[in-house]
Amino acid sequence: MGFNMLLPILFILAGAAAAAYPDDLRADFELAEFSDVSTNLDDPMYRLTDAVQPRTVNVHMDVYLEEARLDGIVQFDVEVIQSDLTQIVLHQKVERIRTVSILDGSGRPVNLRFPGPYSTNDTFEILLINLADPIPAGIYSITISYAARIHVNQYDRGFYRGHYYLNGQKRYYATTQFQPYYARTAFPCFDEPQFKSTFVISITRDSSLQPSYSNMAIAETIETSPGRIRETFHPTPTVSVYLIAFTVSDFIATELTSKSTRPFQIVSRPGVADQHVYASEIGVEITNQLDDYFGIEYYGMGLGNPMKNDHLAIPDFPAGAMENWGMVNYREAYLLYDKAHTNLNNKIFIATIVAHELTHKWFGNLVTCFWWSNLWLNESFASFFEYFITHMADPTLELEDQFVVDHVHSALSWDSGAGATPMNWTGVVNNPSISSHFSTTSYAKGASVLRMMEHFLGARPFRQGLRYYLRENAYGLGTPEDMYRALRRAAYEDITFSRMFPNQDIGEILDSWVQNAGSPVVNVNVNMDTGVISLKQERFLISGATPAPQLWHIPISWTHQGELNFQSTRPSFILSTESATIQGTPGHNWVLLNIAQSGLYRVNYDDHNWEMLASYLRNPSTRTNIHKLNRAQIVNDVLFFIRADKISLERAFDVLSFLEHETDYYVWNAAISQLGWIRNRFEHIPEAHQEFTEYMLGLLDNVVDHLGYEERASDSTSTILNRMQIMNLACNLGHSGCISDSLSKWQQFRANQTNLVPVNARRYVYCVGLREGNAQDYQFLFQQYQTSENAADMVVILRALGCTRDTESLNHYLGQTLTNDRIRFHDRTNAFAYALQGNTENLPTVLQFLYNNFEKIREEHGGEARFLVNINNVAGYLTNYTHITEFQSWGYRHQAQLGSALSNVDSVVNTALNNLRWGNNVVPKVYGIIISDNNSAAAVTTPFAIIFVALATLLFR
Ligand SMILES: *[C@@H]1O[C@H](CO)[C@@H](O)[C@H](O)[C@H]1NC(C)=O
Ligand SMILES: *[C@@H]1O[C@H](CO)[C@@H](O)[C@H](O)[C@H]1NC(C)=O
Ligand SMILES: *[C@@H]1O[C@H](CO)[C@@H](O)[C@H](O)[C@H]1NC(C)=O
Ligand SMILES: *[C@@H]1O[C@H](CO)[C@@H](O)[C@H](O)[C@H]1NC(C)=O
Ligand SMILES: [Zn+2]
Repeated sequence: MGFNMLLPILFILAGAAAAAYPDDLRADFELAEFSDVSTNLDDPMYRLTDAVQPRTVNVHMDVYLEEARLDGIVQFDVEVIQSDLTQIVLHQKVERIRTVSILDGSGRPVNLRFPGPYSTNDTFEILLINLADPIPAGIYSITISYAARIHVNQYDRGFYRGHYYLNGQKRYYATTQFQPYYARTAFPCFDEPQFKSTFVISITRDSSLQPSYSNMAIAETIETSPGRIRETFHPTPTVSVYLIAFTVSDFIATELTSKSTRPFQIVSRPGVADQHVYASEIGVEITNQLDDYFGIEYYGMGLGNPMKNDHLAIPDFPAGAMENWGMVNYREAYLLYDKAHTNLNNKIFIATIVAHELTHKWFGNLVTCFWWSNLWLNESFASFFEYFITHMADPTLELEDQFVVDHVHSALSWDSGAGATPMNWTGVVNNPSISSHFSTTSYAKGASVLRMMEHFLGARPFRQGLRYYLRENAYGLGTPEDMYRALRRAAYEDITFSRMFPNQDIGEILDSWVQNAGSPVVNVNVNMDTGVISLKQERFLISGATPAPQLWHIPISWTHQGELNFQSTRPSFILSTESATIQGTPGHNWVLLNIAQSGLYRVNYDDHNWEMLASYLRNPSTRTNIHKLNRAQIVNDVLFFIRADKISLERAFDVLSFLEHETDYYVWNAAISQLGWIRNRFEHIPEAHQEFTEYMLGLLDNVVDHLGYEERASDSTSTILNRMQIMNLACNLGHSGCISDSLSKWQQFRANQTNLVPVNARRYVYCVGLREGNAQDYQFLFQQYQTSENAADMVVILRALGCTRDTESLNHYLGQTLTNDRIRFHDRTNAFAYALQGNTENLPTVLQFLYNNFEKIREEHGGEARFLVNINNVAGYLTNYTHITEFQSWGYRHQAQLGSALSNVDSVVNTALNNLRWGNNVVPKVYGIIISDNNSAAAVTTPFAIIFVALATLLFR
């Protein structure tokens, strides 16, 4: 991701945690692919003034797909607000402006300056129209004719071309990705969210293609010349230009609903229409649920024109999905479902992304954030309802609970980095800073803050507040103040809330979370003699550094061992000062804060309280009295406290020891990536690494037995997801039962291809098959990749191909990422990461591939930003000092060709060294703890201290 260019190394350190399993997080799919290397100067010229307001925009484009170009005419009806204007400025980044003309309100030409009627400035991506004389305020019409390229790399965004094969024949299509600032590459426009206007789009295309798609339905079709057809779409309501979209293709649509007043279409390349059904069923249900929740009908938003509800599967797509008005684009893998080939994780992904994009129709499209600095006004809500509205549409998916381990935990992880930015980020002033605000801050963190507000306010008043906000700002812009006002009103009107919190201002409370960077930890000290519970808040930093003073208004909910209550998530206290006390009941009872982790904060207890929690959790007859989401919070918090050195290692492993009995999906989900992070830090000390692996396998034994290797018809969603995550981990750690079961499934498949591997087991079964197999196994699976027609399944296969241990096969695999056009740009960098993840011993081969081909990789993986993703991905895997120095000297030998990527090389080296240092510091202690816990290994007593000294002198000379 592009963040690395803006944020310091610490971010990468924190991010490395998630990097272990990059595609597993269902959260944050839009930002995951967002990166940008273009540079605007930080300059006020970057923003347009509001002297000129577009009211209606007509865009006509004459599109030539084969030649990847278009001729366009754009005509604006504008209102000039300022009098005596001498220059009109708007955005453009097209190939060439041909002509510019202006008429006044009565149709008379307005004279432009001569010479120099207009100029363009590529730094600010603007067109400056110079008027001969100052003009009065009023209505004007501006017409611009221009030529533009259709981009051929999806990562250039804007209007871009992709391809697919139909019966072996290559077919082109072109579609758009305008958010946040690429509309200007397709036509000159006022390219900021605050400029909302109606748009009339028309497109001329070859008659050999199918009808085009845009935001609205086609109003008129005419043949303009033999072989050329023009389609004009209905006018949009008032929208921001980043929501405009069109697709020129031979894609086909299926309409799966019977109600003509509520059309719902899935659109894709021909040949995969049988994969449309699931997205359509869940999408219709989600639309209905959102209608009810918001009290504003989706199909009523057209302001008199018929609304469409189209969802398009795009083979090449730079983001995960995009909420264009009336026409959502998705990466194919996130929309098309094939029962035989799409696993449960990907199925949930489809449901939640559809929900995310549909929520944007209200939050983002109907009411738009006034500027990208407060993108959370769009994205936090989409990320919130992504889980909760899908939960209403299909409760069996258990998304209400998954929200916590997906969004809340990733928000806390992200916020633990020193580089985390606030939800209202005033640093958003130019293109790179706009891009980098499409971050966990605006998505998962904002969504987690909203969940905290909902639990504080209550579900009904929260919904009422959102309804006020939407109603009052429909077809316009929203600001944080608008949101605070709406929630205040709802809070004021709710009797329960007003009685419980007579002096609390919900707006002020929410604002503390919007303005502060990072998230807090609440440090708790329990005096069991007096019952007094002391609380102290501070920002949590993974580096363990002392944070600058910051205050949040933290809703505190809590319970204690004497009187368990995990039902009520309503806070009973707001911690608004640095420290405070609450009066509990005296007695020898543990205390626990943050019920069901409804608040966005970690909790650290005094040692004795931790000790009591640990023994309560270790007791199989009491463990499950503690809510599963609090067990998940505890393991996640403790693992982060280990990394930040905020808990003694003895106590930390004492708490974690209950995992030995734990069988719950959520608790394990909260543990896996952090345990993996610690294990990777020991990789350069083989004996400690082996010991830690044994320790993890010891924790896993029981849950592996509990789950079993075969899926049962009665399994719940979380049981299936648990089996997926546990078996994947167990097989990777070398669990013999997992490996032999996977091998047997693999061999049955190899023997007869009709014996498909169960869809939810494919990831680890394929991987084990290749890891334990040879070049023929690799070739066999590669053939599956070549013939698969389900994009999600192809990603599963692609990941597993990286598990081969055969060097020649691995080189074939890496080579394919440069040449095989079934591997889309967006999957090529993933493939590079999968090769690193596949096996520790893959690293030298992958590095050699990078050294030999880096210029080609840069080109064939989609450009500079994608290349940087590859470089950054190396950081988590460089655990051998020889490789680190080799990598660094490669960087310096090729500085000229690497350019600014050299600074990424430096960051990677720093991160790798920090990782080694962390491991060196922690290993002796951890080793002591797990050895004394594990009698069988007690014989190993290598003097590690000697190894550390040797390493340390090597590294820090
Ligand atoms: C754009 O405008 C700025 C400020 O006037 C000027 O410094 C810069 O040289 C211009 N850049 C181009 C490419 O015209
Ligand atoms: C955003 O934060 C800055 C200060 O950090 C403040 O001046 C500004 O008013 C805030 N904007 C909004 C919309 O909350
Ligand atoms: C593969 O299995 C199917 C179904 O069990 C069977 O019909 C087919 O004959 C088998 N093919 C081979 C080559 O054994
Ligand atoms: C580090 O890499 C070098 C070169 O590939 C190899 O000889 C050495 O054994 C590796 N060291 C460890 C501890 O794996
Ligand atoms: Zn979104």
